[in-house]
Amino acid sequence: MPTRMIPLNDGRQIPWLGFGTGTALLYKDATEAVRNAIAHGIVHLDGAQLYENEDTLGAGIAASGVPRETLFVTTKIADLAEGMTVRESFLGSLKRLRLDYVDLLLIHSPKRTLEGRVQEVWKEFEKFQQEGLAKSIGVSNFRIKDFEELLKVATVIPAVNQIEYNPYLYKSSQPLLEYMKKYNILATSWGGITPLVHLKGGPVDPVLVSIRERLEKDTGKTVTEGQVLGLWLRYQGIPQITSSSKLERVKEYLATEELPDLTEEEFQRINKEGAKKHHRVYCEWMDE
Ligand SMILES: NC(=O)c1ccc[n+]([C@@H]2O[C@H](COP(=O)([O-])OP(=O)(O)OC[C@H]3O[C@@H](n4cnc5c(N)ncnc54)[C@H](OP(=O)(O)O)[C@@H]3O)[C@@H](O)[C@H]2O)c1
Repeated sequence: MPTRMIPLNDGRQIPWLGFGTGTALLYKDATEAVRNAIAHGIVHLDGAQLYENEDTLGAGIAASGVPRETLFVTTKIADLAEGMTVRESFLGSLKRLRLDYVDLLLIHSPKRTLEGRVQEVWKEFEKFQQEGLAKSIGVSNFRIKDFEELLKVATVIPAVNQIEYNPYLYKSSQPLLEYMKKYNILATSWGGITPLVHLKGGPVDPVLVSIRERLEKDTGKTVTEGQVLGLWLRYQGIPQITSSSKLERVKEYLATEELPDLTEEEFQRINKEGAKKHHRVYCEWMDE
């Protein structure tokens, strides 16, 4: 199955669908889930030091047997232990992942122990990119004010901002997305299926059902509301970072790649209903 690729501002590309080792796999052995996901067509893997399973993400990649260069692997740094340098922290990740480089390295958050230190961390990230240890570099959970701070010292503009994003965050995210567009910084989304997972019964639900029915009629395939949310992200050129403990669900996410695009009218109907509610699962400080 061909993987849709989305361009980054550094000339590289990111596969649209990413499989994360947080959420369902948080703090767990990810070996089998990763191996199975790759066997079924996943090429983009989203890890983080914080998930405490980089070692088993690496084991799953090794067990998959696919050539390293066919995969796109992300990791993130959220914290620095007392006395540890950014370099030591990142080299630890590469070792646990059993990789010579990652495709994308992110500052996980401008909060936690990196609060007030993002400029210093970013300058180190720029060196890692020059050395080929991180092909692309970016951030996660950044607000406009966090970018303003980082861009004061940046030689390299972040390629990506990985943020919580779904129809209930569409309206409130527009100023940030507009700001990012000026710098050609790509948004990638986690929490994209929140309307189904955390907010069932919200105003978006009936629209998702009617679009699912339209797609089923047009394609003759079974379509899910989760896939409609994936298509909502894809319509905006935003990669979907998702996860699952179940292989069936991974296949469902992958099958989204083969579905047709939403129409502009369908996209706007979702946005209109999404604007009726505002809800974040995590990182409420993103609204500060
Ligand atoms: N940068 C950050 O700060 C950050 C934060 C959170 C997550 N992430 C990344 O994003 C990845 C995805 O995390 P997420 O929380 O955003 O995941 P998500 O895509 O919003 O949700 C995935 C979860 O939803 C469940 N699910 C899927 N379809 C469902 C349905 N139709 N009904 C009910 N439950 C359903 C799955 O459970 P099953 O296991 O039952 O399939 C899975 O655990 C993480 O693994 C991580 O890599 C990044």
